[in-house]
Amino acid sequence: SSPHSSGRPATSGSSATSGRRSATWFAATGRAGMNHRSWMRSQGFTSEVFDGRPVIGIATTWSELAPCNVHLHRVAESVKRGVWQAGGFPLEFPAMALGETLLRPTAMLYRNLLAMEAEELIRANPLDGVVLLSGCDKTTPGLLMAASSVGLPAIMVTGGPKLNGKYQGTDVGSGTAVWRWEEDLLAGRMTQEECAFAEGCMSRSDGHCMTMGTASTMASMAEALGMQLPYSASWPAVDSRRYETAQRAGQVIIDMVENDLTPAKIMTREAFENAIKVNAAIGGSTNAVIHLLAIAGRLGVPLRLDDFDTLIRDVPTLVNLQPSGKYLMEDFCYAGGLPAVMRELGGLLHAGALTVTGKTVAENVADAPCWNRDVIMPIDSPFQEAGTGTAVLRGNLAPDGAVIKQSAASPHLLKHRGRVLVFDSPEAYYAVAADADLDVDENTVLVIRYCGPKGYPGMPETANVPLPAKLLKRGVKDMVRICDGRMSGTAYGTVVLHVAPEAAAGGPLAMVATGDWITIDVPARALTLEVPDDELALRRAAWTPPPRPVTRGWTWLYTEHVQQADTGCDLDFLIGASGSEVGRDSH
Ligand code: FES
Ligand code: MG
Repeated sequence: SSPHSSGRPATSGSSATSGRRSATWFAATGRAGMNHRSWMRSQGFTSEVFDGRPVIGIATTWSELAPCNVHLHRVAESVKRGVWQAGGFPLEFPAMALGETLLRPTAMLYRNLLAMEAEELIRANPLDGVVLLSGCDKTTPGLLMAASSVGLPAIMVTGGPKLNGKYQGTDVGSGTAVWRWEEDLLAGRMTQEECAFAEGCMSRSDGHCMTMGTASTMASMAEALGMQLPYSASWPAVDSRRYETAQRAGQVIIDMVENDLTPAKIMTREAFENAIKVNAAIGGSTNAVIHLLAIAGRLGVPLRLDDFDTLIRDVPTLVNLQPSGKYLMEDFCYAGGLPAVMRELGGLLHAGALTVTGKTVAENVADAPCWNRDVIMPIDSPFQEAGTGTAVLRGNLAPDGAVIKQSAASPHLLKHRGRVLVFDSPEAYYAVAADADLDVDENTVLVIRYCGPKGYPGMPETANVPLPAKLLKRGVKDMVRICDGRMSGTAYGTVVLHVAPEAAAGGPLAMVATGDWITIDVPARALTLEVPDDELALRRAAWTPPPRPVTRGWTWLYTEHVQQADTGCDLDFLIGASGSEVGRDSH
């Protein structure tokens, strides 16, 4: 029998199974039971669905407004096959679909709203376990946060990456190509017509971004944490094995319910340490820092920003994927996917961490083959040496920390001193970025601020603004940029991100003036504003916080309660868990 078939429930139909959570709805007698069953019967289910078998929610973030997730309704059908096969009762329900590309002002503003919505839907309904269907960046952490705060058994199935983009005979990666084409457009190397043609070549199938951007990173994090089946992160969205994996997950969730294998038993401190190390090995997105901190906060797992620096000092980057490297997720899949990486990391990982399979990480990846050593490099001859991953910087400019993705930065800028040019918004910078007489050169340090969680609001991916046209035309490829916002996982450049506290919260970033000097010293993990303390105090006394961007609705609630980047940008009142019990019935 398959490794996933152990512990199948006996679905006897007797009331002996009424210990199940869902049975307090469906096995109820009298008026309450009639209410719970009769309305469900309008969907034409046969009566065995109420016999005490596990009821499995399938939380789908399907939406035509979230193009990366648009195939999840078909993935859900495969999950349902598996649940039925294993003797469960599957019920699909929608959770807020967050697409990176369309949502204003940024999908990040809504991650916590998805987490809150999905948490309440799981808790309020007659579910015994849940399958989480995600894809685009925020949907994966949002659903993991939700499941963590409820605590019912949960398994994730991400939607998988798009096929490689193909343009003029070369592979092009989601997002990463856009940044490059914009530079080419600004520098006069590409026409608008060529760009319009190329954009169709980049997104040619269902799936999320196929670079090692945030979606591929978070799918990999879900797998590294043990929350999705081995290989689940990398099957392309249109590969039949994506659907096979989904069906298998539908079977596995039944085992998890039978064994009460909850998120807290899987996502332990050891699992987070594994995920952080895997993120370094895959050259993953800086957004993983914020999302993993937020998920850990729901579980009460002690995790700190500095863990992301110290834990990876001996972890080399093995995976040669864009934006840091050359290849794309389809190549990663064919090379062996995440299990090959985790096997290669070997003793660097906690081998005993439990996963959704009921087995340990080490058991899952013990025999994982690698088929392409140019895509997944060996640990003794890595793509990038240990210590070149995400670094956490501190100093008088970022007392609570800032991060930089070294593998996406220019080596010559990792130690740099430059004169500052400050902008209070990305828009203010864009208004002058093409000016021929902009007072800027390749040594300038560009500060873009008021882009943090409260400030923008929602902490958008605005940190890696394109270089001034004047520099691009001279062939300058990179310069130091500093921001309290985030950077797209598909982007590259010497960009200091997540500066905390943010400018809108009165962080020192708000006190910087054009003409100041800033020193960045990544090897020493230092970020220093060369302004004396007494001068900074004078500036602080003269500073007034910007007006609140919105005074009602979700955005008001968000800006009132959002935490800073160094703790994961969750809302203060959402940290922790409420469990799955709701004591009172509805009528
Ligand atoms: Fe959805 Fe990149 S925009 S995954
Ligand atoms: Mg993104």
